[in-house]
Amino acid sequence: MSTVTESVTIALTRGRILKETLPLLREAGIEPLEDMSRSRKLKFATSLDQVSLLVMRGSDVPVYVENGAADMGVAGKDMLLEYGGEGLYEPLDLGIARCRLMIAAPREVPASSARLRVATKFTGIAKRWFAEQGRQVELIKLNGALEIAPAMGLADAIVDIVDTGNTLRANGLEPRETIAEISSRVIVNKASMKIKSQLIRAILERLAASVNRRAS
Ligand code: PRP
Repeated sequence: MSTVTESVTIALTRGRILKETLPLLREAGIEPLEDMSRSRKLKFATSLDQVSLLVMRGSDVPVYVENGAADMGVAGKDMLLEYGGEGLYEPLDLGIARCRLMIAAPREVPASSARLRVATKFTGIAKRWFAEQGRQVELIKLNGALEIAPAMGLADAIVDIVDTGNTLRANGLEPRETIAEISSRVIVNKASMKIKSQLIRAILERLAASVNRRAS
């Protein structure tokens, strides 16, 4: 990689995904030059001169990458499905931050309830999912604390991320249907893939090797 003159910016998702992404990047030879969790900076140089890292919310990662403000990104599949970008490549599943996007409801709400009120952050995904099944729902957009919405009478059901299931259980909800299996994916700007293909392909190969070492 050292002979390559092009440079690449990678947008990372802050929080749990960042914690799980950094070891994979390190194994791929890309290490931030300072502790990202202790800094208020949003852009970081790395051990590879040609590669810099940005850190942001997952929902913003595909926006940066599709518009070419970052060449590559790491984001949860939930964020990518919700964003729905056609203008992105998604060449690698990192297999980290695994969880499921599910419909959940209180035990007493019947599965076939005529016109469900569904609270979710993921209104795009939910709209498509229920429309494909010909089910009429009223979507209520929330940004967090979804699991309390049914108990407070705001919604009949929710669409949200489920990992251990503890948050559902603690709020008297049960999982009903899985909409998608989620993990973190690498995305690449289409123009960058052409213009900077040598460096981007080298990074992807190294990351894929890190992922494969974990799996074996
Ligand atoms: C996520 C999700 C659920 C919870 C599920 O929230 O929205 O609330 O994790 O995890 P569990 O099944 O292990 O209980 P997170 O804490 O990531 O914060 P958020 O509400 O900002 O998404």
